[in-house]
Amino acid sequence: MKKFLPLLILSLICLSVFGQKKSSPALRADMLIRQMTLDEKIGQLNQYTSDRNATGKITADGDKANQVRQGKVGSMLNVVGAEETRKLQELAMQSRLKIPMIFGLDVIHGFRTTFPVPLAETATWDVALMEKSARIAATEAAAYGIHWTFAPMVDVARDPRWGRVMEGAGEDTYLGSLVAKARVNGFQGNGLGNTDAVMACAKHFAAYGAAVGGRDYNSVDMSLRQLNETYLPPFKAAAEANVATFMNSFNDINGIPATANKYIQRDLLKNQWNYKGFVVSDWGSIGEMVAHGYAKNGYEAAMKAIIAGSDMDMESRCYRDHLKQLVLDKKVDISIINDAVKRILIKKFELGLFEDPYRFCNIEREKQQTDNVANREVAREIGKKSIVLLKNEKLSNGKTLLPLSKQTKRVALIGPLFKATTANHGFWSVAFPDDTARIVSQYQGIKNQLDKNSEILYSKGCNINDTDTSGFEAAIATAKAADVVILSLGEAADMSGEAKSRSSLQLPGVQEELMKEIYKTGKPIVLLLNTGRPLIFNWAADNIPAILYTWWLGTEAGNSIADVVFGDYNPAGKLPMSFPRTEGQIPIYYNHYSTGRPAKDENDKNYVSAYIDLQNSPRFPFGYGLSYTKFNISNLKLSANELAINGGKLTVTVDVENAGDYDGEEVVQLYVRDLFGCVVRPVKELKGFKKLFLKKGETQSVSFTLTATDLKFYNDEVKLINEAGDYELFVGNSSDAHLKTKCKLTL
Ligand code: BGC
Repeated sequence: MKKFLPLLILSLICLSVFGQKKSSPALRADMLIRQMTLDEKIGQLNQYTSDRNATGKITADGDKANQVRQGKVGSMLNVVGAEETRKLQELAMQSRLKIPMIFGLDVIHGFRTTFPVPLAETATWDVALMEKSARIAATEAAAYGIHWTFAPMVDVARDPRWGRVMEGAGEDTYLGSLVAKARVNGFQGNGLGNTDAVMACAKHFAAYGAAVGGRDYNSVDMSLRQLNETYLPPFKAAAEANVATFMNSFNDINGIPATANKYIQRDLLKNQWNYKGFVVSDWGSIGEMVAHGYAKNGYEAAMKAIIAGSDMDMESRCYRDHLKQLVLDKKVDISIINDAVKRILIKKFELGLFEDPYRFCNIEREKQQTDNVANREVAREIGKKSIVLLKNEKLSNGKTLLPLSKQTKRVALIGPLFKATTANHGFWSVAFPDDTARIVSQYQGIKNQLDKNSEILYSKGCNINDTDTSGFEAAIATAKAADVVILSLGEAADMSGEAKSRSSLQLPGVQEELMKEIYKTGKPIVLLLNTGRPLIFNWAADNIPAILYTWWLGTEAGNSIADVVFGDYNPAGKLPMSFPRTEGQIPIYYNHYSTGRPAKDENDKNYVSAYIDLQNSPRFPFGYGLSYTKFNISNLKLSANELAINGGKLTVTVDVENAGDYDGEEVVQLYVRDLFGCVVRPVKELKGFKKLFLKKGETQSVSFTLTATDLKFYNDEVKLINEAGDYELFVGNSSDAHLKTKCKLTL
């Protein structure tokens, strides 16, 4: 035995050294926490911004560098670049326990390469593409020292007055859940620990999109059933996709600010969903509970937030200033602090920062991603697929105006968006706001593709948002001299986004007036609408023959738009939100309830649920979008008329025919209506969709599997249940789908 003793000791040493290295992030976090002082623990829960991209008040509080050196800062946001992040990380490495910081940034729709804003991307109904753009954004950001993006925003939004609709996936819970998962997968790639993967962040938890009146930061009041059924599933989908972090929201929910909402953060997220990541507050939202009238002061705000489950304090300083006293006063148990610290440390271990705190600070990698041509190609592809063709009427010659011939002799480009660059970037392109030289303007995009023997005539006409009409005359003359006019109108990049709620959704400034003047010339007009939200443009919808909704498409905007205008790509985008006729219809969404007095049709005003001065229907419905070709959907069949509650399923099949003159893509959509329930059910709910490509003249059969689980809903006790009964199924190419059949869910 004596002979083996040294060997045994050596093996034990090896085990403890290598075992520690290999042991799980959770164990390593526990070991580290045992060595930490209370001050060091609180430091991990503290996040500061740099001086850029402020979306709230920045507290000037002396020497941040020193605080980092003392281990009082666990994370920073808005620090960009391998060099800049390295410098700060070096300071963190001077702290007693050498705990690295995490660098976070709003990488919302691209980083060096700007992609279409998320709402526009959702119009592709192509989740693989959305995953791809998030993958690219993560790769570029990670090469610039970023560990963490505050995305995806997965707030369901039914109110286009709310400026942040541009940042999410629109109004539908089912589509929004698929998009949430795709974006999380894209950002986190093959998993934390890879140097091209960043932590994603599901935000804003929760119901931020339901702010009363569409006014940003406003209150939310809704039943728990509605919250669970409509607003929470995309968060659940993100949690199931292993999203590394959550961010809470500015609003109160039923009287309790989300930041201190224990039901949402601790009971639901951390306990019921068993979520192991951490929750960061929104910017200053802990301190803002004083303004909410929910905490008397920072001390109380910190107490309520940490107990409710907010782990990291973004910018409010309440944790830094009060947590220690709260523990000493026995108002906050140390186990709560330890749990928050552990969740954050685990992510630092998973990111590999303890092995190498500078692994994301690599100048070479940064250079490779500075202007990545392949990434731009993907942006162009997603750009063209995000465009929605709203109208393409036949002219007197029996032909539609779009696609335009590249040989058109004289093309007038009129409007304030043609030569704009920043506007194409959209609101959340924060990493390089001044780097606009790489953006392909719409003018340039059209020029790139128009035949060399053709001529471009240009006139700005007016600005985006003022009352100056002095440019009208020149614009009218330009239109008169042309064979066709393309008008590019819309919002500036800072008109849809955070704190950019609008009470009017009309075209800003004098743009509509300009359009009417150009229309009077009698020239055929193609209208491009560039924006981050559904706008209201009834006059244009009634009078202009061809309308493309071109959103804000990012770096390659001009090329993507030209691809569609000239028909190199046949548009297939579908609206991710209902487009209202007037602001008075808002909130408007396709999956509303029937009411006890549903109107028979648009003209029925006889003591029914209707407006006496307006139709109920939207101007353009959710899921709508045209193509240069024509698709017929027919022959709806079910594999059976019944499916059993216990694991039953059936197949829904339709035939899709491309009956027009172009090859093209169509998004076939399946909707369900539960006819009677223990709670009232929506008139339609999206349950599946497929995007397919058909050559002209081709017919394909498309099938969907519908399971009993797909038919579950929340009852009035907020339990997810199945209920036997009758269902209607609809298939079509928008939420206005009329092809229908019935089935039964049986016991
Ligand atoms: C926004 C968040 C964002 C944060 C950091 C806040 O104002 O609501 O979505 O991630 O700022 O920029």
